[in-house]
Amino acid sequence: MILITGGAGFIGSNFVLDWLAASDEPIINLDKLTYAGNLHNLQQAQSAGSRYQFVKGDIADSTLVGQLLDANAIRAVVNFAAESHVDRSILGPEDFIQTNIVGTFRLLEAVRAHHKNLSSDAAKAFRFLHVSTDEVYGSLSKTDPAFTEDKRYEPNSPYSASKAASDHLVRAYHHTYGLPVLTTNCSNNYGPYHFPEKLIPLCILNALAGKALPIYGDGQQIRDWLYVKDHCSAIRRVLEKGALGEVYNIGGWNEKPNLDVVHTLCDILDELSPRTDGHSYRTQITFVTDRPGHDRRYAIDASKLERELGWKPAETFESGIRKTVRWYLDNTAWVDTVTSGAYREWVDKHYGHRS
Ligand code: NAD
Ligand code: DAU
Repeated sequence: MILITGGAGFIGSNFVLDWLAASDEPIINLDKLTYAGNLHNLQQAQSAGSRYQFVKGDIADSTLVGQLLDANAIRAVVNFAAESHVDRSILGPEDFIQTNIVGTFRLLEAVRAHHKNLSSDAAKAFRFLHVSTDEVYGSLSKTDPAFTEDKRYEPNSPYSASKAASDHLVRAYHHTYGLPVLTTNCSNNYGPYHFPEKLIPLCILNALAGKALPIYGDGQQIRDWLYVKDHCSAIRRVLEKGALGEVYNIGGWNEKPNLDVVHTLCDILDELSPRTDGHSYRTQITFVTDRPGHDRRYAIDASKLERELGWKPAETFESGIRKTVRWYLDNTAWVDTVTSGAYREWVDKHYGHRS
């Protein structure tokens, strides 16, 4: 059985659903259910019966984690749990320090205690996979080469600094205690169940609601986009075949300026769900005050993963983004559950003062 943390969030819930479809092995999902955790993402998991179990709890609760590991003979942990939104980390970094740094540390301690008590065969087979981000590498200029696994860490936001700290702890637990760890650093994900505080779902839903599509600064910041199901398949591959202590970059070779991404969303919506007045959704694009310390460009060199573990993404940006827009159009009930009170408060607080 495997244990995943943060499995009620965007990527974690996609991972649970894909795992249940791809494998017979049971999975336990430990999630604190912060504002970003949503059990509606996991409705389809209910049909898996006893192969899927949800536990509400904090990765920083070492006692709870220890009990789960021991009672269920867990053979692998995949750590998705984190505070993940850069803008929220700028407004209030405390939760990021608590979950991403202290939480990862406590989780590692519980896993270390569990690992020490395993038989030698079980200890050899055990894995701790830490899910991290390309943001730990910092910002690139237009002409810099894409991030390789050897790139120096230069995190620029409280979010990326807290993720960088967690990566270092994971690395240290391998070097010092011999914990069998794997780390993945992935680029920007998009796809089903993406919480609409992030650029792509925010713009799809704002467009349909007739609201502004807020572009920070000049909109020429570049992100490297990967369809979430490809991220999940890469993690499964690293878990199965990755070399202990190694770091693997995951990316889709899809660098795009933000403004191009939003133009693409508008064009797909113009085709699939045109405005009644005949105008393009592009007319709703609004340039707003930039994010403080905004990283200019991320780009992932994912060639190690392809060369050593034979993984490549299945989706192009064009195919993945079309599926994503379609998913939001087809899942209005889910959209209604996530855009209720607390979400509207965030939107007012974050965008209300931006010129
Ligand atoms: P998310 O914010 O959508 O979900 C995070 C989940 O973690 C939520 O379900 C939340 O309830 C849970 N959680 C938060 N604190 C917790 C705690 N203390 N204990 C237990 N559960 C807790 O995040 P996401 O976008 O799905 O990202 C998942 C992971 O992938 C994160 O570690 C993030 O840094 C990393 N990542 C994300 C992206 C991306 O584009 N979204 C890209 C690369 C890496
Ligand atoms: O690179 C991986 C990272 O991608 C993950 O580690 C993070 O968890 C994830 O949130 C994401 O971070 P970004 O900051 O890149 O994602 P976000 O969707 O918030 O923003 C994408 C780009 O769009 C970024 O350059 C900021 C810009 N943006 C974002 C919002 C929310 C806007 O221009 N307007 C907006 O309203």
